[in-house]
Amino acid sequence: MPRFKAVRGTKDILPEEWPYWYYVERAIRKVTRLYGYEQIATPILEETGLYVRGVGQGTDIVDKEMYTFEDRGGRSLTLRPEFTAGIMRAYLEHGMHVRPKPVRLYSVGPIFRYERPEAGRYRQHTQFNVEAIGEQDAALDFEVISLALQFFEELGFSKYRLQLNSTGCPKCRPNYVSVLVDYYRDKRDVICDDCKRRLERNPLRVLDCKAEQCQPVIAGAPNIRDHLCDDCRAHFDQLLQYLNNAGIEYDINPRLVRGLDYYTKTVFEVWVQGIGSQNALCGGGRYDGLIEELGGPPTPGIGFGSGIERLVLTLQEQGIDVPPAPKPDVLLIHLGTEAKAQAVRLVSELRHRDVPALVTYGQKSLRTQLRDANRAGVQVAVIIGEEELRNEAVQLKWLDKGVQETLPREEAVQKLVELFTLKDA
Ligand code: HAM
Repeated sequence: MPRFKAVRGTKDILPEEWPYWYYVERAIRKVTRLYGYEQIATPILEETGLYVRGVGQGTDIVDKEMYTFEDRGGRSLTLRPEFTAGIMRAYLEHGMHVRPKPVRLYSVGPIFRYERPEAGRYRQHTQFNVEAIGEQDAALDFEVISLALQFFEELGFSKYRLQLNSTGCPKCRPNYVSVLVDYYRDKRDVICDDCKRRLERNPLRVLDCKAEQCQPVIAGAPNIRDHLCDDCRAHFDQLLQYLNNAGIEYDINPRLVRGLDYYTKTVFEVWVQGIGSQNALCGGGRYDGLIEELGGPPTPGIGFGSGIERLVLTLQEQGIDVPPAPKPDVLLIHLGTEAKAQAVRLVSELRHRDVPALVTYGQKSLRTQLRDANRAGVQVAVIIGEEELRNEAVQLKWLDKGVQETLPREEAVQKLVELFTLKDA
């Protein structure tokens, strides 16, 4: 038994899984380029206060899920539990408001949340995160949602649905929250204990409770759409119009309330069938008050995050083929000490000429080395034995075709370079 294991809720990504990750990364590069988003990387460590203020006290993330610790200098730091607050911190810190608006940014990196691990839910996951900052226009909501959907299309997904809602703004939401709390007042006996707590700490969250006993209560709850202010209603209607014009299907889901406090107006998720209960491929929305909350000037914004582990699970679940990992093309095989020195020199020359090549180590029989070549999946074994050494030649054994030829060393190298020089590295 090994002495150590990966920490609960974290996972290793072994070489076999990387082709899926490369495939997702390719799609990220493509859509961000199509939509004009530039990359930004922020540190994994931030001051704890950033999230307490940004994501909000009373949210599950801040109350229960952050990896928070004191560093050796006595500062309270937190491993980022989401991207948005840190990116807005960077936006302010670097005076990015002077850039043409909207400022379009994306990031990819690890996120940490102390959640109950299950399929598709980890304590460390990797997010592709998109933010568009500095513009109120509902057409920007349309852009960000379109980017998410085009990303999933690019990945080849089927069976996903856009879920949409508006959670109002500080002008209209408090009124809705009090209507909701009123509605729940005489239902306390029938709802779950979590919802009783939610009604105290974060009432909107009762709407996405999964407990059986709460479902009939939620079904009868007042709909936030009936309580939006004119501004929020007009914004939502405008967004629906853009989506309708584009023929994009959506479900208006009055129970979609999201777990972070900064959202205003539009919230959305994309759900997929088949990967279990953790079915949100992405989640996001508008956060028109967040930058102000962090001490900046009033600045609207909208974005989303998408967990790459879930995307990979979905690719596997939907049986989507991804390009296989490239294998080295050439293996150098040698018989005897002098031949080995020659092989070690040749493999180095090939690599410097951009040909992916391997050499065997130790002193092994021809048979063993040929078996190694087959296992490595190379196309050609370059064999150097005593005779080849004497004639300054090498033998090329084409493993897939089962043919072999002997060529002068330089000619062989030239042939390998012509055939196998890396084109995409
Ligand atoms: P979120 O909904 O908390 O939003 O996370 C976004 C996405 O990250 C989820 O839809 C899911 O795909 C993935 N995800 C979240 N938690 C886990 C987990 N424990 N394991 C695996 N995947 C997970 C946010 O984080 C917002 N900051 C998104 C945003 C950006 N809103 C505006 N801008």
